[in-house]
Amino acid sequence: MSFIEVSGVSKSFPAKAGRRQVLHNVSLSVERGEFVAIVGAMGSGKSTLLSLLAGLTSPDAGLIRIDGQPVNGIRHDAAFVFQNYSLLPWLSALENVRLAVGAAFPELSGGQQRDRAQKTLERVGLGNAIGRRPRQLSGGMRQRVAIARALATDPQVMFLDEPLGALDALTRESLQDELARLCGDGDGRVTTVMITNSVDEAILLSDRIVPILPGPPATLGVPIDVPLPRPRRAASMVHDEAATQVRTHVITTLTDAVVGRAQTVGRATSPHRALAMGTAGSGAPRGRDDVRATLPRELRATTEEAQ
Ligand SMILES: Nc1ncnc2c1ncn2[C@@H]1O[C@H](COP(=O)(O)OP(=O)(O)OP(=O)(O)O)[C@@H](O)[C@H]1O
Ligand SMILES: [Mg+2]
Repeated sequence: MSFIEVSGVSKSFPAKAGRRQVLHNVSLSVERGEFVAIVGAMGSGKSTLLSLLAGLTSPDAGLIRIDGQPVNGIRHDAAFVFQNYSLLPWLSALENVRLAVGAAFPELSGGQQRDRAQKTLERVGLGNAIGRRPRQLSGGMRQRVAIARALATDPQVMFLDEPLGALDALTRESLQDELARLCGDGDGRVTTVMITNSVDEAILLSDRIVPILPGPPATLGVPIDVPLPRPRRAASMVHDEAATQVRTHVITTLTDAVVGRAQTVGRATSPHRALAMGTAGSGAPRGRDDVRATLPRELRATTEEAQ
């Protein structure tokens, strides 16, 4: 059995008329130490899926197991990095991290907890800013604190929900490389499930990419392997042939799913036109890699309206 096993999971929420089915019959296996990225369009149900894995909510149907145990609430050995930084604004960077260390290792003395928090902040390059409160930190620094908070608890499994999504492009790229170093390189890696809307980020960091096919309800596509050697760095991924093939595969899968769905709901759009958005020229996608940017405007609108 895999470390994380998701089988036949469905989830709905109350809506104006009845219930809104967000996820339908979702199944996924993640091996111990694997890094899996889930990529999909805005509002398709990515955060809902991650919340289910992390035990923050429960499914209507289906089963999720981690390390053989059914998920029933938050695991003490799991760490979550949210879409926004979610730091406590009245605490310093050090105290934000120490609080998480204290929850994970209550047997450590206050001094030992602080020491561990400081070392982890140094690992993410924040050794000089440990006394600052969140509002005195830049967006990139805040996100480093959030990542340090997750790493400092020495988790068995990490759930990352668009951890770099709120950052400007340059900061994002440098933090992507750091995440690759912290989470992707080396032995004894932490099992990680990351949501991202950036295909290149997924290629840089993950072992497998799982496309989420928009609904509603959304389902998962066939996982796509990322057969690139590590260590990987963002700059070298740009012209790498294997990376280009993976990028094309992911974008084509997502675009095809959206085109198919648009046709089902009676807003037919030329598949040729849709594919051209992501696979111009030689078949390789061009420009920024945000999944939303790969979809034609009317399809983006369709995806959002249908929510
Ligand atoms: N607690 C909730 N109650 C009602 N509807 C919800 C709830 N949580 C999510 N939804 C709905 O479920 C759908 C999927 O939301 P979710 O946040 O999972 O999407 P997402 O793919 O993470 O989006 P984004 O890319 O914007 O982060 C949306 O239509 C959202 O409005
Ligand atoms: Mg989300």
